[in-house]
Formats: sequence, C-alpha cells, structure tokens
Amino acid sequence: MIALLNIDELEEGTSRGLEHGNVYLFAVKKDGQVYLYYNRCPHLGTPLEWEEDRFLDADGALIQCSTHGALFQIEDGHCLVGPCKGKYLQPAPHSIEGGQLLVNPDDLKAV
Ligand code: FES
Repeated sequence: MIALLNIDELEEGTSRGLEHGNVYLFAVKKDGQVYLYYNRCPHLGTPLEWEEDRFLDADGALIQCSTHGALFQIEDGHCLVGPCKGKYLQPAPHSIEGGQLLVNPDDLKAV
C-alpha cells in the first residue's frame, strides 16, 4: 500500500488531484468523509478538473466536469445532469488508516 494523501490536509468541501504513475485520481472531502475516483469523465473520458485541484461546482456541492458541465454526486459519482446523465464516475479502491489515504498500486488501473 502506498499513501497518496494525508487526509487532514484536505479541507472539508474541497478536492485534490492525485496520481500514481500513469493513474490519475481525485479525492473529495464531504462531511468528514473522503471519496476517491478516477479522474475520467464517463462522457468522453477527459479529465474533470477546471484547474489544478478544482473538481467541484461553485457551491462545492457536486463534482462538475469542466468540459461540458456534467454534475455528479460526491457520495457515489452518479451523474445527475449532463450528457452522461445516469452514468457514474468510477470509484478507486482505497483505504484510510492512520489519517492516510492508501491505495494498492496493483488494484489501480490506468483509465
Ligand atoms: S466530457 Fe465531461 S461532460 Fe462531456
């Protein structure tokens, strides 16, 4: 397992782009929970962020794709609005121990 992030460094209601090798991910903290997804829009497969570490809409309530504006629920990656409505962001396998966000590189896939 490798540590990608000290979760105390991720402020509530913010997001962070992460990478390991050629695997691109992002984490979001909401209500004290940390969620980890692959950084790939289910519409065209593009990276999601507006600019570095900015994956959320103006309210910080939803994840928003910067290409065509699709909106996704933070908790489960469900697309509520946009060209990929009904599809999901892909969650990335991880665990949290000792305040660290951990991934097993063997479990990650390049997407
Ligand atoms: S690529 Fe994300 S909404 Fe089109």
